[in-house]
Amino acid sequence: MAVQVNRRNTPTGRIAYVDGRYIPHAGASVHVEDRGLQFADSVYEVCAVNDGLLMDEPGHLKRLERSLKELAMDMPMTPSALKAVMRETMRRNRLKDGLLYLQVTRGAHRRDHLIPQRARPSLIITARGLDPSTYDRRRAEGIAVATFPDIRWGRCDIKTTGLLPNVLAKTKAREAGAYEAWLVDAKGFVTEGASTNAWIVNTDNVLVTRELTANILAGVTRAGVMAAMSRAGINAVEERAFTLKEAYAAREAFITSASGGVIPVVRIDGRTVGEGKPGPMAERLHSLYRELSLSEARNGQGTAPNQRPKPRS
Ligand code: PDD
Repeated sequence: MAVQVNRRNTPTGRIAYVDGRYIPHAGASVHVEDRGLQFADSVYEVCAVNDGLLMDEPGHLKRLERSLKELAMDMPMTPSALKAVMRETMRRNRLKDGLLYLQVTRGAHRRDHLIPQRARPSLIITARGLDPSTYDRRRAEGIAVATFPDIRWGRCDIKTTGLLPNVLAKTKAREAGAYEAWLVDAKGFVTEGASTNAWIVNTDNVLVTRELTANILAGVTRAGVMAAMSRAGINAVEERAFTLKEAYAAREAFITSASGGVIPVVRIDGRTVGEGKPGPMAERLHSLYRELSLSEARNGQGTAPNQRPKPRS
């Protein structure tokens, strides 16, 4: 029987996983006193699914564990159980291309700023289909970014759901006709995008992206691109902060994230980057990265059949 999909390429009858249960997405909810809701006391991951394969799963799980550890929260279940639940959520949603969203909150508790001694973490997983051609179009045309002061807290390396500064910047970027916001620190250096890592190819043809400190998120795609580059012998890379001035003068610029892979930036604050069209490096890195992550996903999934739950009705 043909799978019915809606306009967003998601099968109708979406299913969410919430604390041990698979339930209709439309009615899925958490407790009113969930600390994720009240204090953004929660962390998350967004994983891409391409061609039915979960991309960069080890990197996302490692980062999830790290985020939880930094906030003294427990993993809601063992990594292998989590992998099984992720796959079951994909299966129930018939997810072929799209995103898997995971959120772990500290759980429900009587409202109190103090971290409760005993709270049971909540795990939420949702699936959303995406038409891959949307990102392909962005890759072909390139995107514009607009810059805004980085007003976030000092632990952006933890992937918490405390995202209001990111949300505000991204919204202002859209109002300014740009797709993404780049955040700039008090010294004039670009930190990262609202939901992506930021890169340039400078006038010496060197790839530059900010080093991993508490000021940015350690992007899983950023790491995947780095790995793909070193395998391809591309070594002209500097992990350091770059100024907005350097970015304006760059040959190429691009962003990386799980949702879009590598997407070229052709305008920054209305100024043309390089020749004003997607550059060869961004295109090459996207295909190197995609090839590597797809093959890792294929091998990973092929060698760990025990992580696949038995189909249930
Ligand atoms: N965003 N920087 C920030 C602030 C992010 O929120 C993200 C991810 C990235 C890129 O990380 P990764 O390569 O692991 O996706 C960098 C996700 C996609 C989101 O919030 O939707």
